[in-house]
Amino acid sequence: MICYKQEHLIKMVEEAKVLTKKGKVAKYIPALGEADPSTLAVAIYTGEQDCMYAGNIDEVFTLQSISKVLTLALALMDRGSDYVFQRVGMEPTGDPFNSISKLETSIPSKPLNPMINAGALAVTDMLVGNTLKDKLERVLNFIRKLTGNKNISYNPVVAQSEFETADLNRSLCYFMRQHGIIESNIEQLIDLYTKHCAIEMNCNDLAKLGYVIGNEGRGPNANENIIPLEVARIVKTFMVTCGMYNASGEFAINVGIPSKSGVSGGILGSVPHGVGIGIYGPALDDKGNSIGGLRLLELLSKQYNLSIF
Ligand code: DON
Repeated sequence: MICYKQEHLIKMVEEAKVLTKKGKVAKYIPALGEADPSTLAVAIYTGEQDCMYAGNIDEVFTLQSISKVLTLALALMDRGSDYVFQRVGMEPTGDPFNSISKLETSIPSKPLNPMINAGALAVTDMLVGNTLKDKLERVLNFIRKLTGNKNISYNPVVAQSEFETADLNRSLCYFMRQHGIIESNIEQLIDLYTKHCAIEMNCNDLAKLGYVIGNEGRGPNANENIIPLEVARIVKTFMVTCGMYNASGEFAINVGIPSKSGVSGGILGSVPHGVGIGIYGPALDDKGNSIGGLRLLELLSKQYNLSIF
């Protein structure tokens, strides 16, 4: 049993925080541009009562692309893997997360994987529910169950800010609708997508969520799986192969923890059968990953020998 120590976490945050000066907060979603780039926080959860944490832990942030892991899990539970993977692929990409180019050059024209924007938009389109409100409520309830926090909701200001500026994502949707990958009304799909990207939490919630994914879909006290074992296995695998955008290969070598980042600066980590990790640091590197968060994960992985490889 690994003995995690808060003094270690505090030291790691101090060391990684220096790097935040070299990063930039995302501005293409205007509301995200208001974040303080010097913020850095980490929480880890091992299934005990509380998380261990260090840094600006009270800060809440929106999940952004981290929500792609959760909508994928829900779509797999709703529709089964055959349905999902007829419409979205399983391969990593060396392109940026919002690139349209592979949609044009791949045959058949389907998104390469569910962790890039095109793939996540296709997955959002698969969620079951009678209305947009029902679908969003299902995503929220799923996340409330995973975190054990009934108050989880979305930030309407960030959602609106993205909705008003999401023309690149709209383009991906129009392209995919032409090729039969998605079916819905595109404004409604963008509405649902921007709202699930704007789901808000702190690092403690994120660490708890990471724990469940790493623990084969089971919460700390639950005998039943919140996520079926096979679905947890699939999403964890995508976290390894595609979770850190087109930096996933380097990250696998340097850190080796199944992880997913978002442009808000959040990173979700799931060490199989071990520890859930929640990180927030809005200063990003040039690939869109939290610059301080990456260093923190590197330090954590080395200190506690957490690489799965
Ligand atoms: O769609 C977007 O651009 C954002 N809502 C999320 C992007 C993000 O976090 C990085 N994507 N993989």
